[in-house]
Amino acid sequence: MLIRRELPGDEAAIREVVRLAFATPENPDTIESPLVDELRADVGWIPALSMVAEIDGEVVGHVVCTRADLGGAPALGLGPLSVRPDRQRQGVGLALMHAMLGAADALGEPVVVLLGNPAYYFRYGFRTAAGLGIISPEEQWGVHFQARPLTSYRGEKGLFGYAEPFTRL
Ligand SMILES: CC(C)(COP(=O)(O)OP(=O)(O)OC[C@H]1O[C@@H](n2cnc3c(N)ncnc32)[C@H](O)[C@@H]1OP(=O)(O)O)[C@@H](O)C(=O)NCCC(=O)NCCS
Repeated sequence: MLIRRELPGDEAAIREVVRLAFATPENPDTIESPLVDELRADVGWIPALSMVAEIDGEVVGHVVCTRADLGGAPALGLGPLSVRPDRQRQGVGLALMHAMLGAADALGEPVVVLLGNPAYYFRYGFRTAAGLGIISPEEQWGVHFQARPLTSYRGEKGLFGYAEPFTRL
């Protein structure tokens, strides 16, 4: 497996991996799949922080962080994270997450914030965001709203806001 930055020409493969990862029989098209295209067209897009996992030349996973706002300071919002169903539970998500957190840390980003299952993200150092004073835009997200401080984190806190396309969901 190779983890690398998204390149021009990956867009359709990423769209399909995201769709398959989140699809249900009732909702085969998913909201997450067009979201990645909308994020790519937004000012919050950071080309270095859209990464794919490739096996035998095929894109099987994707993760992206986009520019977010934390109390007036820059922060990152992570998501979606997607692994094609036939490649799940084989360490692809793990590789994508560690690559992303390493890249964000190397870029000097202070903190990565996401909405997800605490049982899954705890292993990557995510904690309940509220414990750091990072306020969720939606109170009902509760413990699913999590943050991972990086090396440059200096206690930034306040209201968190995702890149604009998230607010249209
Ligand atoms: C969540 C997801 C990205 C994990 O990727 P993956 O490549 O399957 O994960 P890995 O192989 O690296 O890790 C597997 C571990 O994660 C755990 N895991 C997978 N999905 C999980 C979930 N939703 N909640 C809690 N744990 C989860 C598994 O139990 C497994 O742990 P174990 O091996 O100790 O049992 C992938 O399952 C996926 O794309 N799911 C659908 C989309 C989704 O829910 N994305 C996350 C939105 S926040």
